[in-house]
Amino acid sequence: LIYPVILVGGSGTRLWPLSTADRPKQFLPLTSDCTMMEETLRRVSGRPGFAPPILVTGDRHVGILGELLKATGLTASAILVEPEGRNTAPAVAMAAHWIAQRDPDALMLVMPSDHVIGNLAAFHQRIADALPVARSGRLVTFGVQPDHPATGYGYIAKGAPLDGDADIHEISEFVEKPTLSVAQSYLDGRRHSWNAGIFLFTASAFLSELALLAPDVAGPMAQAMAEAVDDGTLTRPGAASFGAATNQSIDYAVMEKTRRAVVVPVDIGWSDVGSWDALWAIRGRDERDNSITGPAVVEDGSRNLIFVDGGPPVGALGVSDMVVISTAEAVLILPRNRSQEVKTIMEAHRALH
Ligand code: GDD
Ligand code: MG
Repeated sequence: LIYPVILVGGSGTRLWPLSTADRPKQFLPLTSDCTMMEETLRRVSGRPGFAPPILVTGDRHVGILGELLKATGLTASAILVEPEGRNTAPAVAMAAHWIAQRDPDALMLVMPSDHVIGNLAAFHQRIADALPVARSGRLVTFGVQPDHPATGYGYIAKGAPLDGDADIHEISEFVEKPTLSVAQSYLDGRRHSWNAGIFLFTASAFLSELALLAPDVAGPMAQAMAEAVDDGTLTRPGAASFGAATNQSIDYAVMEKTRRAVVVPVDIGWSDVGSWDALWAIRGRDERDNSITGPAVVEDGSRNLIFVDGGPPVGALGVSDMVVISTAEAVLILPRNRSQEVKTIMEAHRALH
């Protein structure tokens, strides 16, 4: 059995002012009529061989998730509620313990809640390809072909082929969030792929690597889940034990260090919609490549992203390659190629209040 484990966190900074801490991007209908959270649930629900997903989240998002499950009729195997945000290593560890208490050999498919996967059939085909390797105790990552020197991703260098037929490889190097110059060298070298942030492994394989490589997460989380209380809807780990875990992402804590990881290259129409620019790239656009949502007009301009939601209608003339976002909280204007810098202006804007 495969348990999808969906990580529902997010601080809502990269797509500010539309996304916020209370409603991060996976809860916004940005990429289609439905939210990425709903698409993520549907991607893995009701499939043969898959258990209902395990959702890992904080108190802040329990309400909105409950509403979504109710509205869609989808179900979860469990909703694990973190007492506080401790990043993804403790979140995944919590799910691994929940599964291991029931079936240590079961597989877990760890997935972010805020990604787009355009080709569902290809996604499931590559998971099927990876199953035997994951069952044998390897930690499977999925590698996406990079097209720019992004600094917000993990980079994976392919090693020797493990299963030539299925195009599965050892990992010779996993580097999380390199500097721009290093990212550029990886891009030029054409040997690295981006880590899609999706992982497949057995609960027992993950827990043994975690104990080896990140004992300061493994110990507290084993304790926290031994103390967990299940009220029939929500599962809450022991808060004091949970709080003793250090704040680490699965990428830094395990994937950079483990020798048991493999990479499965994928071509699945993946985007993590990590910036306004990325959103522009995947949205439908008009004949001048403007993507316009809500009341807005553009004259004599191209390749703009304009999104009006709750703010004043927008008129733009003679401008190109811009992002304009109009909400009740703020109007954001920036060149598309500086989308990475939203956080800086968000903080400065907050200081105005
Ligand atoms: N429940 C829970 N608790 N979820 C969390 C937490 C947490 O404390 N922190 C993050 N998440 C969720 C986010 O909502 C997201 O869905 C997923 O876990 C990944 O976290 P991000 O914070 O978005 O990670 P990242 O984008 O910096 O990097 C990861 O993803 C990249 C691809 O998008 C890494 O895996 C990179 O290596 C990878 O390239
Ligand atoms: Mg992310």
